[in-house]
Amino acid sequence: MAQEVRGVIAPGKNEPVRVETVLVPDPGPGEAVVKIQACGVCHTDLHYKQGGINDDFPFLLGHEAAGVVESVGAGVTDVAPGDFVILNWRAVCGQCRACLRGRPWYCFDTHNAQQKMTLASTGQELSPALGIGAFAEKTLVAAGQCTKVDPSVSAAVAGLLGCGVMAGIGAAINTGNVGRGDTVAVIGCGGVGDAAIAGAGLAGAAKIIAVDIDDRKLATARTMGATHTVNSKETDPVEAIRELTGGFGADVVIEAVGRPETYKQAFYARDLAGTVVLVGVPTPEMKLELPLLDVFGRGGALKSSWYGDCLPSRDFPMLIDLHLQGRLDLGAFVSETIQLDEVEKAFERMHHGDVLRSVVVL
Ligand code: APR
Ligand code: ZN
Ligand code: ZN
Repeated sequence: MAQEVRGVIAPGKNEPVRVETVLVPDPGPGEAVVKIQACGVCHTDLHYKQGGINDDFPFLLGHEAAGVVESVGAGVTDVAPGDFVILNWRAVCGQCRACLRGRPWYCFDTHNAQQKMTLASTGQELSPALGIGAFAEKTLVAAGQCTKVDPSVSAAVAGLLGCGVMAGIGAAINTGNVGRGDTVAVIGCGGVGDAAIAGAGLAGAAKIIAVDIDDRKLATARTMGATHTVNSKETDPVEAIRELTGGFGADVVIEAVGRPETYKQAFYARDLAGTVVLVGVPTPEMKLELPLLDVFGRGGALKSSWYGDCLPSRDFPMLIDLHLQGRLDLGAFVSETIQLDEVEKAFERMHHGDVLRSVVVL
């Protein structure tokens, strides 16, 4: 029987979000109902509310979440009721051409729950943010969206791996393939950039140069492992990064803003045959112009990082274990914990750059 739970709904474009009663169906084949314990507030949730992703209102927001599996549908074998899981928004299919070639982190046919959650008041079908919808006491997902991790970790910390923190760490360790002794620069030190800094540290980077236009962000970046900082409002970041790297540029430059001007900085701040990783997400009107001869002449790799090119089943348990061993401070990303009815206020703090992550704890 469908259950009634409280969830945060974005009713229409730019309307304030509000807590409403949501009907969560029993899990069908391949599905799971998860009791949510914590869910981070991400820019993507705000973009949904602003109509920047699509017009499929009403949305059930929230997608950086951890919780406990309550029930599973027919045929589910990877997770069972009682498992502590982190939710992911790229449940790999195992069948597409990427999966069949042994590169499931690129899966081109990721999936979500088949059944719809609905608004109790009107019966309207809800669109869950990134196929998750976890600003809610319980949510319905595809079982493949659940990854079991060590339950001794705090849920607020674990949930963040479900999106932005994984994107940043993965941009460094998966997409950028940062290795021991590398020089790395990270442009944009929000939650994603800071996670890239932490990832570069984990991978053994010798120098980690943080670039931002906000000194507060640079101060935090230092606590995340940046060895040098550059305020690109005051200093040309390309020059500064070259100076800090013997005049050559960094081996890997991670762009965590998602704008043409910062992408160009990343492109030119990298050493010959170096790597640029774009993990910041641009908007549709943005265009990039570069001399093609520079693209050829500077060599190396220009890569995009989808969700940190992560494979949840491989990366989530590993990163949680490193955190529990004290080798990766995921707790540093939790700026504050809030209640379900405080998401609207959290959007404002996020918009003003006051927090890395507000996390709803249920
Ligand atoms: N140069 C350098 N830093 C910049 C610039 C710029 N021109 N413009 C903005 N920034 C900095 C901001 O000061 C902030 O510290 O980039 C950071 C962006 O951080 P957040 O807004 O907190 O965003 P975050 O959650 O880190 O996501 C960054 O990655 O996944 C994508 O959609 C996400 O595009 C976004 C990006
Ligand atoms: Zn997110
Ligand atoms: Zn696939």
